[in-house]
Amino acid sequence: MSDQISEVGQILAQQLATAEDSAAVQEIRTEWVGRRGRITLALKELGKLDPETRRTQGQILNAAREQAMRLINQKLEQLGRVEEDIQLERERLDMTIRGQAPRVGLLHPLTRVRRLLEDVFLRMGFSLAYGPEIETTWYNFEALNIPEDHPARDMQDSFFVDVPHMVLRTHTSPVQIRGMEAAQGKLPVKIIAPGRVYRRDDDATHTPMFHQIEGLVVDRGITLGDLKGTLLAMTTALLGDSIETRFRPSYFPFTEPSVEMDVTCAACGGKGCRTCKGTGWVEILGSGLVHPSVLKNGGYDPQKVSGFAFGLGIERLAMRIFGLDDMRPLYQNDVEFLTGFERYTGRPIL
Ligand code: PHE
Repeated sequence: MSDQISEVGQILAQQLATAEDSAAVQEIRTEWVGRRGRITLALKELGKLDPETRRTQGQILNAAREQAMRLINQKLEQLGRVEEDIQLERERLDMTIRGQAPRVGLLHPLTRVRRLLEDVFLRMGFSLAYGPEIETTWYNFEALNIPEDHPARDMQDSFFVDVPHMVLRTHTSPVQIRGMEAAQGKLPVKIIAPGRVYRRDDDATHTPMFHQIEGLVVDRGITLGDLKGTLLAMTTALLGDSIETRFRPSYFPFTEPSVEMDVTCAACGGKGCRTCKGTGWVEILGSGLVHPSVLKNGGYDPQKVSGFAFGLGIERLAMRIFGLDDMRPLYQNDVEFLTGFERYTGRPIL
C-alpha cells in the first residue's frame, strides 16, 4: 500500500518540480485531485469493489490524496513567494530619483514695474482711473488742445479705426479730461491712469503698442515745484537716491510750461553710449502744468485752480530698471528671458 502511495508521490513530485508558475500547478492539481482527477475518479470507483478491497484501497487512495494536496500546496506556497518577489521587484519605486520641480509662475516685468509705480503714487494719495483704448478724437486730441493740423494727428503716427472721429488712443492723456469730468468740479483731482497706448512705430525702442501711466493733480495753487517733488519721490522709490535726474524744457500742446524728465543712462552710467545716443541721459516722461484750455475742457476754472500732469512710458522705465537696450524681448514671451528678471528681486526696488 505504501508503495502505491509513494509512487503517486514520486510522479507528482517530478511534475511539480518542472512547474514554473502557479497556473501550471493548478493544471497538475486538476489532473490528480480535480473533480475528474485521477485520484478523485478512483475514489468514485470504490463503491464497485467488495468491502475488504474497498477498505484497503480506500485508505491508500485517501492517503495518496492527502499527500498530493500537501505537495501541491507546498509548491503553490513556494511559487507564491517567488511570484510576489518578482512583482515587488517589478513595482519597485526608486525613492532617490530627483523630482521635476514645477515651473513657478511670475509676474511679467512690465506688470511688476506698473504695480511698483501704482504703489508709489497710491501711497502719495493718488487714486486709479481708467479710460477706453478706442478713444474719440475729442478726448485724445481736441480736448487736449491738440489742433487739427498737429503732426500727432497724422495718419503716420496714429491708428485710426473705421469709425469717424475714433482712434486707438495715442497716449493716456485723454484720461486727464475724463478724470476731471468724473470729479465734477470737486478738488483735489489726484489720479493716475495706467494703460495701453498705440502708435505707428516699430523699432528697437518703439513698439506699436506700449504702456503709459498718466498722472494728474488739479487743486488750488499747484506749481511746478509740486510736479518736481512728486516725480523725484517716484524716481527715488524706483531707482534709488543715487539716481540723477534732470528736467528739460519741452513742448506739449496740453501743458504750459512743459518739461521732460531724464534719468542717467543705466547702460553707461552717464558717460554716453549707444542706448542714450551719446548723451548719458534717457528720457522717461513728459510733463508740465496743465494748460488753461485743458482745465476748461475738464470743467475747471483756470483762474481759480492749477494743475500738473505727467505721462510716463512704463517700457522706458522697465528698460532703465532692468538695463535693457531693446524693448522687443519684453513682448516675445520667451520664458527664459522673462524669468531672467527674477534675479532683480534682491534689489530694494523690486
Ligand atoms: N501724453 C504725452 C506723451 O504721450 C506725455 C505727457 C503727459 C506730457 C502729460 C505732458 C503731460 O508723450
